[in-house]
Amino acid sequence: MDRAALLGLARLCALWAALLALFPCGAQGNWMWLGIASFGVPEKLGCANLPLNSRQKELCKRKPYLLPSIREGARLGIQECRSQFRHERWNCMVAPATAAGPLGAGPLFGYELSSGTKETAFIYAVMAAGLVHSVTRSCSAGNMTECSCDTTLQNGGSASGGWHWGGCSDDVQYGMWFSRKFLDLPIRNTTGKESKVLLAMNLHNNEAGRQAVAKLMSVDCRCHGVSGSCAVKTCWKTMSSFEKIGHLLKDKYENSIQISDKIKRKMRRREKDQRKIPIHKDDLLYVNKSPNYCVEDKKLGIPGTQGRECNRTSEGADGCNLLCCGRGYNTHVVRHVERCECKFIWCCYVRCRRCESMTDVHTCK
Ligand SMILES: *[C@@H]1O[C@H](CO)[C@@H](O)[C@H](O)[C@H]1NC(C)=O
Ligand SMILES: *[C@@H]1O[C@H](CO)[C@@H](O)[C@H](O)[C@H]1NC(C)=O
Ligand SMILES: *[C@@H]1O[C@H](CO)[C@@H](O)[C@H](O)[C@H]1NC(C)=O
Repeated sequence: MDRAALLGLARLCALWAALLALFPCGAQGNWMWLGIASFGVPEKLGCANLPLNSRQKELCKRKPYLLPSIREGARLGIQECRSQFRHERWNCMVAPATAAGPLGAGPLFGYELSSGTKETAFIYAVMAAGLVHSVTRSCSAGNMTECSCDTTLQNGGSASGGWHWGGCSDDVQYGMWFSRKFLDLPIRNTTGKESKVLLAMNLHNNEAGRQAVAKLMSVDCRCHGVSGSCAVKTCWKTMSSFEKIGHLLKDKYENSIQISDKIKRKMRRREKDQRKIPIHKDDLLYVNKSPNYCVEDKKLGIPGTQGRECNRTSEGADGCNLLCCGRGYNTHVVRHVERCECKFIWCCYVRCRRCESMTDVHTCK
């Protein structure tokens, strides 16, 4: 990632942390930890001074060596969310700071964390998955005493098939356990029907995120044998790249299931005629319909799409038509100057020409 993106990320996280610190209640108190992504070396601050809720602080005190993984998990999740949604009306960003103050006047990102929409579902899933991924990486790297590579596979394999398990297989079990422990707020400690269904939804989506990591485990092999004959293979299980996991979750987001806001013994689909179709643990669930994210809503912290760059020729979500919600777009010409037609001159320097090019940039009205 480039510096600007990192800085943006740090700001975003600081913003989330600050905002969430203002609302340290219920599910939102669970989200302060994202602010950790903005601390360079969170270990130096100590668990007590980090933006964690009391349960997480407790866990942190018992396992301070997990802090780098927690930070990395937050970073992974936020970065993947922004990457997957970069072309959409909701682009996983908070509203920019306004003249009213660095944090604006109202709860900026608060909305997506508590609104019970598809976007809420994605955020929870991708963050829970990020934590599994980073903790598991750390286990495999041998950085942890209580977890390591998957040892259950040792000595296994298929001699007739010409392969055996070897190397270090990623073991997601510890990462899954930790992600649950760290993120899943118990349901019983809430009041009101609505918050109860939202909490059940969030817990389900946390788990869906973790399941995505487990589901995308794959097997890598290396060949041995005379000059690459591959007579013998060593294989190990490995997690997919987090980008791949993000893609799967984006897919789940697009096919997410609306559930009834009346929670009976378990969650049910909202559509009565579809209630027979089971809900799987890797499905993403939401309660409330999303707003269209077209126009700014300061109260909800929705920035709107005005000023967003769009693609004039695309039919997709990034096309000016959809992204600008039919309001049209402005076009300005941007001049690029770069070194070009570089030649190596004997001896020894490189001579280039300066080339100018013009590109049209379109932004939503
Ligand atoms: C493991 O620990 C080393 C040294 O502290 C660190 O540089 C590395 O990034 C860690 N790796 C993972 C995957 O956590
Ligand atoms: C509910 O939460 C409060 C404060 O967060 C805590 O003191 C209480 O013990 C909790 N109750 C249960 C049943 O977990
Ligand atoms: C705009 O969209 C078209 C069609 O989808 C695509 O080929 C093109 O690369 C896009 N341009 C930019 C600048 O992303």
